[in-house]
Amino acid sequence: QIAGPCVLVIFGVTGDLSRKKLMPAVYDLANRGMLPPGFGLVGFARRDWQDQDFAKVVHDAVKENSRTPFREEVWEQLLEGIRFVPGTFDSDESFDKLKDTICELDQARGTGGNHAFYLSIPPSSFEVVVSQLKKHGLTEEEQGGWNRVVIEKPFGHDLESAKELNAVVSSLFEPQEVFRIDHYLGKETVQNMLALRFANQMFEPLWNNHYVSHVQITMAEDIGIGGRAGYYDGIGAARDVIQNHLLQLLALTAMEEPTSFEASQLRAEKQKVLAAAHVPGDLSQTTARGQYCAGWQGAQQVKGYLEEDGVDAGSSTETFAAIRVDIDNRRWAGVPFYLRAAKRMPRRVTEVALSFKRAPHLPFTATDTEELGTNALVMRIQPDEGVTLRFGAKVPGTQMEIREVSMDFAYGGSFTESSPEAYERLILDVMLGDAPLFPQQEEVELSWSILDPVLEHWAAQPDQPEPYESGTWGPQNAVDMLARDGFAWRRP
Ligand code: BG6
Repeated sequence: QIAGPCVLVIFGVTGDLSRKKLMPAVYDLANRGMLPPGFGLVGFARRDWQDQDFAKVVHDAVKENSRTPFREEVWEQLLEGIRFVPGTFDSDESFDKLKDTICELDQARGTGGNHAFYLSIPPSSFEVVVSQLKKHGLTEEEQGGWNRVVIEKPFGHDLESAKELNAVVSSLFEPQEVFRIDHYLGKETVQNMLALRFANQMFEPLWNNHYVSHVQITMAEDIGIGGRAGYYDGIGAARDVIQNHLLQLLALTAMEEPTSFEASQLRAEKQKVLAAAHVPGDLSQTTARGQYCAGWQGAQQVKGYLEEDGVDAGSSTETFAAIRVDIDNRRWAGVPFYLRAAKRMPRRVTEVALSFKRAPHLPFTATDTEELGTNALVMRIQPDEGVTLRFGAKVPGTQMEIREVSMDFAYGGSFTESSPEAYERLILDVMLGDAPLFPQQEEVELSWSILDPVLEHWAAQPDQPEPYESGTWGPQNAVDMLARDGFAWRRP
């Protein structure tokens, strides 16, 4: 599908996200023929730039980070619609200039009065920006066009602040005009979870507490926090990615089948399952946290979290977080979902793994089945995208010896089509007004309700998170957390 004509205004255009993801995604969409000729891109930031300076920044970002090859004619077409507005969020003059720029683009490019405002800025600046948009008449529909606002996480830092943030945004935009980005939902492999579950007959009958013993959702990163101390310190792994990406993965894994993939149907099912989820019992037993210290990442020696630039020397921010989530419904009662997210792990991997119960009876000797693990279905979100099924098979020979083997589906081996980057898909959906991949405020609030007790529990502990060496799979208290339930973390 090709987007209709519109202007995309990016606030926070000098930030990392814009350079690494947003600008390249816009170019890739253009290159794939998914942007209409009537498209304009406006950058707004506190820089003394002219249009051509911003165009150069976009050009460099595209060259550096886009997925598709650089084609001069595509770039030239995009370039004609690139504008820059210098200014600060509190300056009326800058917003007047923004309005003039948008009007000029509406005319020059025939955008039909369709405008998307992308807030790639800290939540503390949302209020001033949306109020300025309103004050300067930029939220009023013109010529039958639309206005949409796109917001990036963090959607607050707890339930209360998420509600406050939402009050600001929803006072000026209707719910259907607000697009909350959780970039995990834009990933091909995450959407494939829905295809795997609901386009096939053979998995769903096993997808419940009769067969599944537990589920592990892992988001491991090998990187540290890099230059992001200003954002990360005080936030930590749970707020950064469990509240959003991992709980969304849990919702997609555990929800019931929606009647269609229309936004309201999909969201209703996700909300239902999130409402039934909670972290059970004694939180010192059902959660774990850690903080990386110096170590080795492959052949490279890396520093500890507390030595990173910009991190408070006594910081108790966790860089490893694990929680157990129970879901109180008939399908999942008794099946723990373990979620873990961490920086400075041995490798980068995101996956959802369903572990199955042992067969009720094994007609083999104990020695025959020594190398038989538990059956598992692993949805590999990244980097090695695909699905793995693990099961027992007979080792060739005269003995009935069983060993665990795996059967793999790999995207690269089965499809010649390339996957769009998550941001490409999501920016296109904003322009199309297609909402299923964007979480609604209710989901955001339900996710905070699950996490808030954990965050409060951790905040009340005087001790630091347990240190773990960089390049290892995390602290001992996480190992103990699963061992108490009779399980062990997967080493993907
Ligand atoms: C972001 C987090 O949402 O996701 C980062 O803020 C994290 O801390 C990033 O590194 C990971 O994204 P991806 O797509 O590389 O898994």
